[in-house]
Amino acid sequence: MSNMIHVSGLSRDYKITKKREGVTGGFIDLVRPRKETLRAVDNVAFDIEAGELVGYIGANGAGKSTTIKMLTGILTPTSGEVTVGGMVPWLDRLQYTRHIGAVFGQRTQLWWDLAVVESFRLLQKIYEVDEDTYQQQMGVFNELLEINDFLHQPVRKLSLGQRMRCDLAAALLHKPKVLFLDEPTIGLDVVAKDNVRRFLRDIRQNQGVTIILTTHDLGDIEQLCKRIIIIDQGRVHFDGLLDNLRLQTGHRVRLTVELREGLSSKKLAQVTDGMPVKWESAEGLRHTVEFNRSEVPGADVIKQLVNACPVSDLHLAEPPIEEVVAQIYRDGGVAQ
Ligand SMILES: Nc1ncnc2c1ncn2[C@@H]1O[C@H](COP(=O)(O)OP(=O)(O)OP(=O)(O)O)[C@@H](O)[C@H]1O
Ligand SMILES: [Mg+2]
Repeated sequence: MSNMIHVSGLSRDYKITKKREGVTGGFIDLVRPRKETLRAVDNVAFDIEAGELVGYIGANGAGKSTTIKMLTGILTPTSGEVTVGGMVPWLDRLQYTRHIGAVFGQRTQLWWDLAVVESFRLLQKIYEVDEDTYQQQMGVFNELLEINDFLHQPVRKLSLGQRMRCDLAAALLHKPKVLFLDEPTIGLDVVAKDNVRRFLRDIRQNQGVTIILTTHDLGDIEQLCKRIIIIDQGRVHFDGLLDNLRLQTGHRVRLTVELREGLSSKKLAQVTDGMPVKWESAEGLRHTVEFNRSEVPGADVIKQLVNACPVSDLHLAEPPIEEVVAQIYRDGGVAQ
């Protein structure tokens, strides 16, 4: 496999106006605005191979959209290098757009007042897609996204889910090699999300599209991406396999214990005294304790509890991926 996307030393600054406080401050702002530089993307580097589907995640304001905008050629970086399929996105935009597709979930790329099919026909002309390819792609889109039902509706009359499906189809009409997705499932219901995910899996497999996906829905990530890149305040904090992320944050597990009769939290803490475990606040007869399996075997904790307390049920679970990622956002990275 070859490298499809190469990014190194990529940074982007924004000039922002800082407001001064109070009425006098407001007056001074008018005369002499206080400009500051915000580094939204800071020395980012990664390589993505052809056919990979990589999740690009991070908290609000981390710099995800700014990165995607540079990768799609909408924004020029302050410094750094990007090549996608050997091209520099912001240098030859017209040529470049024929090789990539992009979906920005927050706003449609389609013409608001045109019927969906008219938008597609326009895109066909713009991208010079021959009729055979057009029909073939529309066949795929209809099979996977069921868009035929609303092809003749104007875009402004579509529901969010219908509109998102059309945006995805539009981005792929010209069979691009690379697809950039910035929150393609935002605001969608469970079924619509599932449709979008299935679609992405399918086009990646059958059309070999390389995909970068930005999302706040970690369900998207778990179902689609083996590899994730986490950015925090513009910097890459983790780049690797999702499975490894779990390992590197420790073998943290959570044991839920149902008791037959009430026991004080204090009593429970006494039972596990000396063990590196952390009890959380109880809910009725249900108590939860967290520990790291590499520090204490689950069996030891369970044995201790069952011997000393009236346990009726036990459940051992790994923390949901949301928590693992939240921990990284909070702690700013993990050892790599
Ligand atoms: N046009 C702009 N002018 C000034 N600052 C901007 C501009 N666009 C983004 N920023 C700032 O750059 C930082 C990164 O923004 P960006 O939109 O890339 O974040 P994001 O990771 O996509 O966040 P979200 O998850 O909320 O979409 C933020 O602090 C944001 O306020
Ligand atoms: Mg964003």
